[in-house]
Amino acid sequence: MGIVTAGKDLKAVRESARIVRKVLSELALFIEPGVTTAEIDALGRRIIEGEGAVPSFLDYNGYPSAVCVSINREVVHGIPSAARKVTEGDIVGIDVGAFKNGYHGDAADTVMVGEVSPEARKLVEITYEARDLGIKAAVAGNCVGDIGHAVQTHVEANGYSVVHQLVGHGIGRKLHESPQVPNYGTRGKGSKLRNGLLLAIEPMVNQGVAEVRFLPDGWTVVTADGKLSAHAEHTIMVNGNEPEILTA
Ligand code: MF3
Ligand code: CO
Repeated sequence: MGIVTAGKDLKAVRESARIVRKVLSELALFIEPGVTTAEIDALGRRIIEGEGAVPSFLDYNGYPSAVCVSINREVVHGIPSAARKVTEGDIVGIDVGAFKNGYHGDAADTVMVGEVSPEARKLVEITYEARDLGIKAAVAGNCVGDIGHAVQTHVEANGYSVVHQLVGHGIGRKLHESPQVPNYGTRGKGSKLRNGLLLAIEPMVNQGVAEVRFLPDGWTVVTADGKLSAHAEHTIMVNGNEPEILTA
């Protein structure tokens, strides 16, 4: 379980998280119509390695790239390709992990390319709001279920659905640690949150049904109904009444 207390370890976590944020910021500026998803991955990888870090996702269970790029109906884990171009109106999920000095950072954004439909914009906005409400619930003494409850309530109140088949996670020396952090849940249920616990909170929000499928590439997750999906993720540390958002 990813508990950090202070000193050297916390410094390392903050550094990995800083690198992840730097990559996401630069990728958001880079993404425009005509850019390929392979170019997005290459730039992300170059920045991570330029910071003396290792891409957390590369070779993780055989994942072939440094950045996951998931467009429109793709929920998460899209594999970058030189044949896939971003186009005006797309919503593009970019998910980045960096490992340095023994610790991982992990975060994701959904970038709107040029003019997107009002429906797509609303979905993205609600996804960020849900993530931030989930983070607010991640305080010492609360439970994992409080996080999921906060996320799910906001998503469903807006007529969207949360993905159940994939979850957020503890993070630290390994990319995925306990506990799992579902984007649904019941208040007061699940393991108790303690100060210093590191979590990746990452709602995946679908415009239509909650069900997702895996493409034959073994990685890319898509909505079962082909409607849009958005994803936003931060690495945070539970810290009393206000979590520290490490990838802010
Ligand atoms: N943020 C995602 C996760 O935590 C990215 C993992 S991609 C993988 O699950 F290739 F590393 F699996
Ligand atoms: Co994650």
